[in-house]
Order: sequence, then structure tokens, then C-alpha cells
Amino acid sequence: MLANLPAQPADALLALIKLFAADDRADKIDLGVGVYRTTDGATPVFKSVKGAEKVLVDTQDSKSYLGPEGDMGFVEALKPIIFGNDFAAIGNVDGMQTPGGTGGVRLAVALAKSAGVKRVIMGTPSWPNHAQIMKDLDLGVVTFNHARDGAVDMDALKSAVADAAPTDAILLHGCCHNPTGIDYSVAQWREIAALLKDKGLLPILDLAYQGLGDGMEEDAQGVRIVMSTVPEALLAYSCDKNFGLYRDRVGAFYVMADKDKLPAIMSNGASLARANWSMPPDHGAAAVRIILEDAALTQQWLAELDDMRARMRQMRDKLAAAGTAGSVDMTPYATQHGLFAMLPLSKEQIEALRDDHAVYMAGSGRINIAGLTAGNIDKFIAAVADVSA
Ligand code: LMR
Repeated sequence: MLANLPAQPADALLALIKLFAADDRADKIDLGVGVYRTTDGATPVFKSVKGAEKVLVDTQDSKSYLGPEGDMGFVEALKPIIFGNDFAAIGNVDGMQTPGGTGGVRLAVALAKSAGVKRVIMGTPSWPNHAQIMKDLDLGVVTFNHARDGAVDMDALKSAVADAAPTDAILLHGCCHNPTGIDYSVAQWREIAALLKDKGLLPILDLAYQGLGDGMEEDAQGVRIVMSTVPEALLAYSCDKNFGLYRDRVGAFYVMADKDKLPAIMSNGASLARANWSMPPDHGAAAVRIILEDAALTQQWLAELDDMRARMRQMRDKLAAAGTAGSVDMTPYATQHGLFAMLPLSKEQIEALRDDHAVYMAGSGRINIAGLTAGNIDKFIAAVADVSA
């Protein structure tokens, strides 16, 4: 029976981690998987997380099961961070903890399917795992161009919404678009929210990088605008990047709907979670809860995020200051957001970057801005110039 299984290709992005590790060139540059790196190329545990983990070790008196919804203190503590203190419809929002943002997306899409959604509309390029999740759940995917000429392609989005069927949902990146770094402006979010409301189209919002774009409040504007406009929405949230908890898999899933319907909706979330992973892992989410319940740890965490954002902004400015590298215009990178940017390079050019210059990036042309440092950015720009000349 098992011998019938055909081999599957390794996830291209995750395979890059191993390829990079196996390269023994001292000046190699890792711009692959989306993790934050310091100017030394490290991805350290946040000091605020270390502080919270100490508290956790000292105070946690049981590791008994919590249930499919995980740590509800964590889920509640995140609400003001995501939705703000003045979010009028907060009484219509309920949530649960998930294993990472991926678990949140998985649960949102599976719940949408249970509710009758047959296809998900989404801009491309997108995070490759979005399409994989839809495929695994046997849902149709309708794509539109996320960006054109370095800017959001609003016409493509509008016509996709106009053509939507009643059983469609739409997936939108809340901020720091992965992979392009090209985000909607506040005015565009307002327009999108109004279109979704008019069409009655269910939004699935993926907020995986809050705080890594323009700021915690700024990066939540889009989801807050949409959720203040439409009657129902699903939101997947990740703490993997903004708390640096990647391998601890810390995420959440929120539903906004009629208050009296929420218990039934969340019971579907709980039963889907039970069938998928039973219960989410506790440790990272408990550390986030401890941070958010403690004013000093919260300040420390926010300051750490400020530093990360400032460093990435410096790298973006430095790229833009280079003007062009070969055929690549670097100037748009200064005004884009988050960890990622796309280089318009061919497959051969991306391979040449890896083979000839030890520069590792996703096959799509995506780079992780945080992989750039004061020490390697000039080499990177020269390498891009070399392969694209
Ligand atoms: C990325 O896009 O690099 C991250 O979200 C990591 C992942 O799981 O793909």
C-alpha cells in the first residue's frame, strides 16, 4: 500500500535552509526563509521572551491539557493588539489559539469550507503555502495580480471581486505582503472594505507580520478597516515573527460574526482543531500572554520590534540608494514593507546568484531583507549587478 506513494518534491523554501547550511563559503548570504536576522546574521530569542519564559518556568504548575482552543488568556491578550482599544465590534469577535499562523490560515480556510465556501480568491504571487492549503482542502483558487509595475493592482482586485460567486471567499494579506512587500494604502483598504461589503464577500485576513512594517498600529489598519465595515470575517494571526517564536508555532484564529452565532461557529473551529492537531502547543503562547499581561515586558518587546523595523528600513534605504544593480531598479524597495521584496530575476539569474556568489534566495525572486547587513549588502548589490548585467 505505502509503496504506491509517489515521491513529493521538498518544499522549495524549506529546502533552501538545508542547501544554505551545506554551503561552506564563508561569505554566503541567506535571503531565503522569512526569519528576522540581526546585523550579525543571528536570529536570537527576544529578551522579552526570555523574561517571560523565566516567569513561566517559575510559575507554571501544570502542563495538563487546556483544550482545542488553547490558552484563552493569550487569545484575549492579543485582541487589543490586533483590533485596537476602540474596535466597536469587539463583542462580535471570538478566537482560539493555533499552531502558528499556518494553523490559523488552515483553520480559517477549513471553517470557510465547512460554511459553504467553494473557492478562495487571492492575489498572486502569494505565500506558496496558501495555495497548498487550499489544494489540501480541495478548494478552488481564483487568482488575480496582486501588483503591477511595483504598485498594488487595484483594477485586478476590483474585477476579481466583481466576478466573485456567492460561495467565494477572498484571502488578503493584512500587512507586509509576502512575497512582494507591496501593501495596500489606508485609502485602498477603505475601497476594498466597501467593495467586500457591497458584494457580501467573506474576507480571510492573514496577519503574519504585524509590527514589522510601519508599526504595530499602522500594520493593523487594514484588517481593522475591513472588520469595521463588513459583517463577517476570519482572521489568521502569527506571533512567529513579531515575537520571534518561529519554531514554537504560536498563532491564533479569530472570527467576527453575529454575537449569538459565535458559539456555534467556534464549536466548528474547535472540532476542526481537534481533528487536525487536537490542541495547540502551549509554551510560546504562554510566553506571549505573560509579555502582554506585564507592562514592562510589553515595553521591552515593543522596543525590540522597533529596533528590528529600523534595521530593515536601513537596509531598504541602502538598496534604494544604490539606484540600479545591473537591470534591477532598487529604488522601489525603500517604500515597500516588511521582510520581503521581489527581484525581477530569471531562474538562471537566481541560480547564478547561488552558484557564483553564494547568495541564497527563493526561486520566485523573493529576498528576505533581514538577511542583508551592513557587512554583506554591498556584496549582494554587486552580485545582482553581475548576474543581471
Ligand atoms: C516565509 O514565507 O519564509 C515564512 O513564512 C516561513 C514559511 O513557513 O514559509
